[in-house]
This record gives sequence, C-alpha cells and structure tokens, in this order.
Amino acid sequence: MSVTASHFLTTESKPAGCSWRVRLSSGLLACTNGVRRFPAFISRLLIPALSVLTEGISLGLMRRTDVDDLVANTYQTHTRHYDPRHYQPPYESRILPVLQSYAPGPRMLDAFCGQGREAEVFAGGGFDVTGVDRMPAMIESAQRFAAEQSFAANFVVADFEALNVSPGFDVVYSSSWMYSTQQGADRRSAFLHRCCQLCADGGLIVFSTVRRPARSLPGTTLRFAVARLTSWLTLGNTATEFGERLYSGLFWHHLSVTQVRRELQQAGLRIQHVESGEGAEPTFFFVVAQTPDRAV
Ligand SMILES: C[S@@+](CC[C@H](N)C(=O)[O-])C[C@H]1O[C@@H](n2cnc3c(N)ncnc32)[C@H](O)[C@@H]1O
Repeated sequence: MSVTASHFLTTESKPAGCSWRVRLSSGLLACTNGVRRFPAFISRLLIPALSVLTEGISLGLMRRTDVDDLVANTYQTHTRHYDPRHYQPPYESRILPVLQSYAPGPRMLDAFCGQGREAEVFAGGGFDVTGVDRMPAMIESAQRFAAEQSFAANFVVADFEALNVSPGFDVVYSSSWMYSTQQGADRRSAFLHRCCQLCADGGLIVFSTVRRPARSLPGTTLRFAVARLTSWLTLGNTATEFGERLYSGLFWHHLSVTQVRRELQQAGLRIQHVESGEGAEPTFFFVVAQTPDRAV
C-alpha cells in the first residue's frame, strides 16, 4: 500500500501561551496550508518553494524548547486524530511477523503508545504489552479502547525519559517515526541509550524513521541554508541539522538509512534487520539491545 502525506496531520496547530518564536513560526507554517486552497496548478508550484522558505525560517527561528512547545501543543489539540477507531495505518500489522521472529520473549514496552492502537496489534500477536504515554488523556483513551476491544495491556502515564518501571523488557518498541522526531544528534543518542536501559541485554529495540530520498537533496540543502541564516540573524537554533523538517505541527528529521546506521554504530549497537518504507512510510530498524548501565 502506498502511503501519502495525508497519513500525517493535515492542519498546523495554533499554540496559545507560547513564545513569540513559536507564534510567528506557526503563522508562517500556516501560510503553506493556505496555499492548498488555491487551484491545483498554482498550489503545486507554490507549495514546495513556500515550504522550503517557511520551514527553513521556522527551524532557524525556534530554539529547541520552542519546538518542544509547538509539538506538545499539536498533540494536545489533535488527540482525536490518533483515535484508533479511525486512525489505523497498516505498519505495525505488517512488521508483526518480523517482530515475533526476532523478539527473545513476550514482555514489550510500547513507548509513545497514544490511545492503544499498536497495543491492540501487539497484544493480539502474543505480546505482554506495557504502553507508556505522557499525556493522561491518551492513556485514559487507551484504557477505554482496550476494554472496548477486549485486549489486555497495562497503560502508564509517564515521560519516556523518566519512566519508572522495572526494566528488562524483551522488546522496546517505539511508535512509528519517533526516532525522526528527536531534534538533534544528542537527543537521538539519548533516545537509544534510554531504549537500552529499559531493554534486557540481547533484547530487541524497534524504532522507525522518515527516510530522506536522494532526490530531495536540492530542497533539503536550500531549507538548511535558510534555517542557518535565520538562526544567526535571530539568535535562534544555531544547531539546526541537515534534513530537518517542520510540517503538520510536528518536528521531523528526514534521515538516510546510512546516517541511522552510523548513529547506531556510534552507540555500539548492532542492527538485526531493516524494513524499508516507501515515501512517507516508516523505515523500521530492529536492533539488538546492549545495556551499558541501567540507572533509571
Ligand atoms: C504521534 S502520537 C502516536 C500515538 C500512537 N503511538 C499511534 O501511533 O497511534 C505520539 C505520542 O507520543 C507521546 N509522547 C511524546 N513525547 C513523549 C515522551 N517524551 N514521553 C511519553 N510520551 C510522549 C504523545 O503524547 C503522543 O501521544
């Protein structure tokens, strides 16, 4: 099945109570959406150029805490978007047989679980699932969904970074594309470290990314140049990285598979399997956990 951008959220969020950097960026990003209402032949020409410009400026303007605010606001205002009664992308069912074949045991942490969509698939596949999400509304909805669909899973409200559960999971699974939503190599490295802390030695870490296709090179380069220039002029995020994007009210880092392989190698982690996605589909990495320390 081919997956289109409509699988992402379709509107920008309008954050209240955030910094001027977030408010200005949200306004700019909303311009691209406004152009979607133009006749197709005009919007098809304008949107790529406009998105390079508005995303580039916003990426340079917003510091990382601003981006965190923007993203938190989007999740808060789009809870219904992730309701598993209608949000049902096919990715998890597709990778379930691979997961079952590599998982050393049934105990699974479903990180960033939202409203229990993946938990239903994995519990149905024989896993003993603990879902974690920092938004109480998501967890309450997940509990209702599990009761409705009659599947067993344990759901916990907690921040992934501060999660206080007994570690040693056989599988640490993180929601589709989550690795690509970590802004900065340091955060991606901390993410991998956290997965290792929570996973048993020799257990399985599963995460996914949005891939950066080679043909996107000119746009990516231009967006990066605009971001860098803006960051210097506005004392914004001078640490912007090549491949970063901002759309649908969320942060994305479109990563090449080579770059992810490099980051895993730097973290001393071995890839067991890669399941490549086409276009906007997630590319899944199945990685063997090695636990450097387990100080949770
Ligand atoms: C894109 S939604 C996905 C929900 C679900 N996995 C799905 O695909 O239907 C991401 C979820 O991650 C949660 N989240 C984001 N950062 C988090 C963190 N640091 N700790 C725990 N949950 C987090 C958000 O609250 C949100 O519910």
